[in-house]
Amino acid sequence: MGRLTVKGLSKVYGESSAAGSVTALQNVSFEVPDNQFCSILGHSGCGKTTLLNIAAGFEKPTSGSVMVDGEPIRTPGWQNTMIFQDYALFPWASVADNIAFGLEMKNMPRHKRLDTTQYFIGLVGLKGFENKYPHQLSGGMRQRVAIARALAVRPQLLLMDEPFAALDAQNRAFMQDELVRIWQREPKTVMLVTHSIDEAIKLSDCIAVMTRRPGRVKEFIQVELPRPRDEDDAAYLKLKRKLRDLIHDEMEEQ
Ligand SMILES: Nc1ncnc2c1ncn2[C@@H]1O[C@H](COP(=O)(O)OP(=O)(O)O)[C@@H](O)[C@H]1O
Ligand SMILES: [Mg+2]
Repeated sequence: MGRLTVKGLSKVYGESSAAGSVTALQNVSFEVPDNQFCSILGHSGCGKTTLLNIAAGFEKPTSGSVMVDGEPIRTPGWQNTMIFQDYALFPWASVADNIAFGLEMKNMPRHKRLDTTQYFIGLVGLKGFENKYPHQLSGGMRQRVAIARALAVRPQLLLMDEPFAALDAQNRAFMQDELVRIWQREPKTVMLVTHSIDEAIKLSDCIAVMTRRPGRVKEFIQVELPRPRDEDDAAYLKLKRKLRDLIHDEMEEQ
């Protein structure tokens, strides 16, 4: 299970510092049902990474909490696993060993580990690349390894911070489609940070549109469009216009 609840979440950096404090998040609340895909959409500096870091257990909230099935997240762990923009793969380990790493941490027996690793290699489309090292792979393939490694431990919550930002436009669009395909085969509660309106619409069941700093939820939007999402569809374009207006207002008010 993995119902995600963000409740009254605030984060102030440097509260006790003479240099002054920064309120990164202010009273952020929303809820994502089990196995839904949620995007956090907002401008740079609005607290998106802060929100994800709290959900990953890397940062402590100043007040409020991020909960999975009603349990506050307090520490990092395989239950709430993060995929970074720079992939964070082990350069000294093969594709298979990168994916198996978390399974070893979970003390999964060897035969099960091999089966699970093979399954996820197949799922992300890396059959035949098991024994390659990260430097032998393209950016998109590295991101596939990172996705397989994160999913293999069967987390309750998958966290992604602008995961495709380092890819060129064509590969980014392709990986977005791949992520949806993989997520449909291996359903999971996902919280993905992006500043791309199209990425948010293409991927999400729901979108938290953030205000500029201090980050608050400006609007929480359910995306009811059928998948795969058609960028030329009238309803898609209507939602895109709405999101553009919401985001644009945030620029104007600055
Ligand atoms: N560790 C930190 N210490 C102090 N300020 C921080 C820290 N991390 C982020 N901030 C500040 O908090 C605000 C939100 O940052 P961040 O969460 O990285 O936003 P985003 O990911 O949306 O660009 C920014 O003003 C940033 O400078
Ligand atoms: Mg960020």
